[in-house]
Amino acid sequence: MPPFYVTTPIYYVNDAPHIGHAYCTVNADAIARWHRLAGDDVFFLTGTDEHGLKVAQAATANGLSPQAWTDELAPRFAGAWADLQIANDDFIRTSEARHHRTVQQFLQRIYDNGYIVSDTYRGWYCVGCEQYYAEDELAGDRTCPVHGRPAEWYEEENYFFRLSAFQDRLVEWFESDPGRILPEQKRNEALSFVKGGLQDISITRTSIDWGVPVPWDPRHVFYVWYDALVNYLTAIGYGQDDDRFARWWPAVHHLIGKEIIRFHCVWWPAMCMAAGIDPPNHVQVHGWLLVGGEKMAKSKLNQIAPGDLTVDFGVDPVRYHLLRDTPLGSDGDFSYEGITARYNADLANNLGNLLARVATVVGTKCGGVGPAPDPASRLAAVAAGVVAEASGAWEAMQPAAALEATWRLIRETNAALESAEPWKHAPGPAVDAVLGSALESLRIVALLASPAMPSTCAEIWRRLGLGGLPEDRRVPDDAAWGGYPGGLAVEKGAPLFPRRQE
Ligand code: ME8
Ligand code: MG
Repeated sequence: MPPFYVTTPIYYVNDAPHIGHAYCTVNADAIARWHRLAGDDVFFLTGTDEHGLKVAQAATANGLSPQAWTDELAPRFAGAWADLQIANDDFIRTSEARHHRTVQQFLQRIYDNGYIVSDTYRGWYCVGCEQYYAEDELAGDRTCPVHGRPAEWYEEENYFFRLSAFQDRLVEWFESDPGRILPEQKRNEALSFVKGGLQDISITRTSIDWGVPVPWDPRHVFYVWYDALVNYLTAIGYGQDDDRFARWWPAVHHLIGKEIIRFHCVWWPAMCMAAGIDPPNHVQVHGWLLVGGEKMAKSKLNQIAPGDLTVDFGVDPVRYHLLRDTPLGSDGDFSYEGITARYNADLANNLGNLLARVATVVGTKCGGVGPAPDPASRLAAVAAGVVAEASGAWEAMQPAAALEATWRLIRETNAALESAEPWKHAPGPAVDAVLGSALESLRIVALLASPAMPSTCAEIWRRLGLGGLPEDRRVPDDAAWGGYPGGLAVEKGAPLFPRRQE
């Protein structure tokens, strides 16, 4: 089985998770589930970023030690992901011993290779970003462009990573594969940043001790970003299990938000080069989920917890909305009206209605036993086209487009029923053919949509009388027209998605 390694950023535990975090995590989860369905050997990693000033300050503000604070917060992230049916294979916390060990090993290697040197740093620092800014990158009154609050002047004696030594090799890495960083516009931005010239960067701190100690000079801890990026290696056995590491690296897919491109597309590949390992194969950049036009952030008090939505809409509708309405790469606006409209249109009216009407008519015309599909149905060709298109979109990390294609099969099947009107005709082969084909469409939809809505698709599968779970099947083989055997008891059940007030 081909390996497929996918990661989310590790989230800062300065506050509880919000739906911006859920957006990234649900996308990574659906992509991972798709690859499992396609028969790949998948490793899906997420976790929490627990060191640095921002987290230490949040701990102090809450009257706790950083360790006690992160011990409280990390399970809230893990719990939110469990509630959202996120099937990650590992959950890494950067305060874990395994991670400290890997960070020290990896950065010692870079030091030994001569790419880390000692110097003094002076500059404007944003604690929210945990990042230095050049004067011309700051907004008026020297405020941070992301957080809108004043940057602070810092001066520190510390160690520098010789990023400037990697300019040419980075350009080569960008140019060796046009799909390295997607979407293309983000790739071009990062590439012109590299071509504009690279400064060496400060990678240690003496001002705090909440971090991973520098092995060759324990008065320092590593700057949080340098520790955080290494999580992608810790979880796959870097320096501990060479076979395991070689299985997953560098065939990785990093899913990240657009404000952390430089860390992932410039610093991180350069660090890998400096340590003598291959840089990552692929970085997929996504935009922000905005609320009223602004990025959700603790400092803006506009955060929505995933649980607030799932109690109201259910887990799968929230997953579906996050995947369907904001394609990876663009910003999206979150609103109650938006999720409600999507729920009513795609879930209540299209999918839910199709399942309910087919099950009802199978009940009245076929004694509740589902007939086999018609091999000559016009829907067979529609389904084949949809399977190909959805598969291509999932492969290209475009869940929104994959779901859009999948819903075309639902709409076409509803239209086929409306034109044949099997409910008006006497039972017989013609009615059986129409209903069998509609059941077959539903079976294929349940397969294709299962990475997005695992529980719903399992329930559809069960109501169609099929054994096991969609996720135990393989696409494309099991998505070929004719897989529904017929002769199975079809259950009507309660509406999957009761219509909501708009
Ligand atoms: O940057 N919409 O952590 P973080 C979409 N610890 N995505 C959002 C979002 C929103 N409103 N708000 C946040 C960090 N995110 C570092 C990462 S990785 C080695 C270290 C996304 O908690 C954001 O774009 O600030 C980023 O990709 C991720 O959540 C983590 O953000
Ligand atoms: Mg952030």
